[in-house]
Amino acid sequence: MLKIEEINQKTLQCERCSLRNGVKQVVPGEGNPKAHLMLIGEGPGQEEDEKGRPFVGTAGKLLDKILEASQLKREEIYIANVIKCRPPRNRTPQTNEIESCKPWLDLQIAAISPDLIVCLGLTAARTILGVNDSLQNLRGRWHQFGEIKVLCTYHPAALLRDPKLKVPTWADFKMVMQECGK
Ligand code: URA
Ligand code: URA
Repeated sequence: MLKIEEINQKTLQCERCSLRNGVKQVVPGEGNPKAHLMLIGEGPGQEEDEKGRPFVGTAGKLLDKILEASQLKREEIYIANVIKCRPPRNRTPQTNEIESCKPWLDLQIAAISPDLIVCLGLTAARTILGVNDSLQNLRGRWHQFGEIKVLCTYHPAALLRDPKLKVPTWADFKMVMQECGK
């Protein structure tokens, strides 16, 4: 099996979709290669594209606060995205782009082999669970994905637009803390 660093190196050369042509950098993901918990977002935004790292912009700062409140450290978890290249003007990734990029995420999940996955937002939730439900229906309970337990919650960017979503998101992260023994 490929190691996470080998997989991430390969994403840098990827030409499976046209997004690569429009970005400054590919953003494969980062964290502990042996993480028990993996977070999956949607895709890089402008800051991520500039730095080559996931969740380092405005949404990332809010994610950092959520992680701190949940007693989780970036160094102990792994953070990736459904797509590794920033879409133009941060538009939602298209189905064909998600399908093109999905093999990278599958390889990352296989390499890290986390016990838990938290999907941040609807794109990750639908991609990982392979369903078309709303986030409201999917959040708040553990799903089984092979051997892995999956929880779906709101994307930090959604919390910035609608602070009312902070309450259910915090309830979701309490479930994560409990599962992580925090
Ligand atoms: N939003 C995401 O979904 N992922 C990032 O890495 C940054 C913002
Ligand atoms: N759409 C998103 O992009 N994120 C959410 O959390 C919910 C809907």
